[in-house]
Amino acid sequence: MKKITIAIDGFSSCGKSTMAKDLAKEIGYIYIDSGAMYRAVTLYCIENNLFNPDGSVNSAELEKRIDSIRISFVLNKETSRPETCLDGVNVESRIRTMDVSSRVSLVAALGFVREALVRQQQEMGKAKGIVMDGRDIGTVVFPDAELKIFVTASAEIRAQRRYDELKAKGQEVSFDEILNNVQERDRIDQTREVSPLRKADDAIVLDNSNMTIAEQKEWLKNEFQRAANV
Ligand code: CDP
Repeated sequence: MKKITIAIDGFSSCGKSTMAKDLAKEIGYIYIDSGAMYRAVTLYCIENNLFNPDGSVNSAELEKRIDSIRISFVLNKETSRPETCLDGVNVESRIRTMDVSSRVSLVAALGFVREALVRQQQEMGKAKGIVMDGRDIGTVVFPDAELKIFVTASAEIRAQRRYDELKAKGQEVSFDEILNNVQERDRIDQTREVSPLRKADDAIVLDNSNMTIAEQKEWLKNEFQRAANV
């Protein structure tokens, strides 16, 4: 069966990763969470003192080091989900903290960071058979993807989902802090100069505000079958 490329973009915390991971597992495709790669670079900056006291990024230093930062994924055998490694160390839980969430959009707005990560993402997708989620996958990384989805939901619903997810992991978080973070990242992601978040002209919009995970899974599977002619 011919393999295709599936690009899933959309706003923060709208459940893109859940649907992308589930689909990839079901159809035997590789899944890549491009947001995890921007999060890993952000964690690198935190741990290597590359944030200035005013909260901005020391971009001159990061630019010198960007090509030496190694990001990879390993499969967690128990969950059969990929986990993110930074320079060979599993950082999956460390990249999901509020500290990283509150800084990642600044790092992701830097042109040289995007160039380096987009190059790696395109390399990963060369053989097709890939589901990648992010902000610019259908517009920049894989403009020729056979299936492009643009996911959205109201900011309150997205914040509630993220709140439930972090709570379930035992993290102490406030709903208001998460809502502010979701709205602030949406703003930075949509207004940045390099590859801003926008729907590709040929993407299908999915507003999943009132959909269950099972319903959206079914919806996506149908779209896949249509696009792949199976
Ligand atoms: O929190 P959520 O899962 O929605 O976000 P994410 O997919 O982990 O992405 C974290 C951040 O990385 C986003 O808010 C964007 O600033 C940035 N990002 C990006 O600029 N381009 C991508 N392809 C993916 C993520």
